[in-house]
Amino acid sequence: MAACSSLLFPLLLVLLTFSDSSVKVIGLGVGINYGQIANNLPSPTRVSYLLRSLNISRVKLYDADPNVLVAFSNTNVDFIIGLGNEYLQNMTDPIKAQNWVQQRVQPYLSRTRITCITVGNEVFKYNDHQSWSNLLPAMQTVYNTLVNLGLDKQDIGEYLHGILNFHAQVKSPFLINAYPYFAYKDSPNEVPLDYVLFQPNQGTMDPVTNLKYDNMLYAQVDAVYSAIKAMGHTDIEVRVSETGWPSKGDENEVGATPENAGLYNGNLLKRIEQGQGTPAKPNIPVDIYVFALFNENLKPGPASERNYGLFYPDGTPVYNIGVQGYLPELVYSSASKNNGFLVCITLVSLRENSVAGDDSNLRERGKFRYDKISEKLFAGDGGGDIVVAKTVKT
Ligand SMILES: *[C@@H]1O[C@H](CO)[C@@H](O)[C@H](O)[C@H]1NC(C)=O
Ligand SMILES: *[C@@H]1O[C@H](CO)[C@@H](O)[C@H](O)[C@H]1NC(C)=O
Repeated sequence: MAACSSLLFPLLLVLLTFSDSSVKVIGLGVGINYGQIANNLPSPTRVSYLLRSLNISRVKLYDADPNVLVAFSNTNVDFIIGLGNEYLQNMTDPIKAQNWVQQRVQPYLSRTRITCITVGNEVFKYNDHQSWSNLLPAMQTVYNTLVNLGLDKQDIGEYLHGILNFHAQVKSPFLINAYPYFAYKDSPNEVPLDYVLFQPNQGTMDPVTNLKYDNMLYAQVDAVYSAIKAMGHTDIEVRVSETGWPSKGDENEVGATPENAGLYNGNLLKRIEQGQGTPAKPNIPVDIYVFALFNENLKPGPASERNYGLFYPDGTPVYNIGVQGYLPELVYSSASKNNGFLVCITLVSLRENSVAGDDSNLRERGKFRYDKISEKLFAGDGGGDIVVAKTVKT
């Protein structure tokens, strides 16, 4: 589905970088999206066992579910928690923001490692101007609340600057949700399956950079790097907050099979284990949150939407990716500490094939611009814009 971009802050990168290096030694090195739109999932406590058995220590939630946060008390799992778009309006009100943080975040901080709060989710995907205008104030208010409550332990001055200039210039790293699956599904005759599944293939050459790509995901990541570079920033990291492949789909959803999903996620994990970077950023290991932990039986939309999970709700793997998880019946706990945390933002959804050097003609430095009519995200303003990626309605 997609790439949504998120504004992150240097602090988060530092935290993630640290946790990356420790994760790599002992485990899979990927994070996972823990979606819960289902009525048959195992209890969060059992899930904490499952993740532990998989050596997964980074989890992204779409909300701040207290049941999950409690279940992961005293574990070394880092959480990104989310404020959905329905909260944007209220979060512009400092009192309501403070209430939310005090009720939904603060009580869990001493035992659960919450490192990041996302504000809004793919906000610019929806033609809702009220949400667009609430986004920045909501981010600022949530952020200020964390600072006022003394929950942010860092010097914020330089980061706040980035928030304030958010609309003018995207200064901070992007989290992208990148789904080569959609590019393949939409054009199965043009997009080589091996290229999207990380299988041996001829690859493609980026005519602008002369870099060779043997898979689409890396090209998508580098396309974003390229766009960011065009805006004058070479110091911003791109991270993949969601990627995955459905194991099942409707008749018209070409490629949604357990075999392909197993190849996609299995091959991806191998590359992550090797600490691979992209061709444009060979020294920066690609950072991934796989979508998703479980199949979610209540998700609306085409059948694929309910079949992104690595696991069935009973803990059995949907397909073999070479790792064995363990979902116990028992309760578990141990010890840990909390880190400071941050406010992130999810902007937009990118779903199409992209070429890393797409922005070669980009002359102006500036912000990403979202064109709601064409539903395209552009890097920079004015004439000569080059499409970074196109969004797709769901
Ligand atoms: C997790 O790490 C342990 C300890 O290094 C290792 O024995 C085990 O195989 C790993 N499990 C997975 C699923 O990677
Ligand atoms: C926003 O605030 C109003 C008034 O306090 C409340 O009724 C509503 O439930 C809040 N919305 C959300 C999503 O929490």
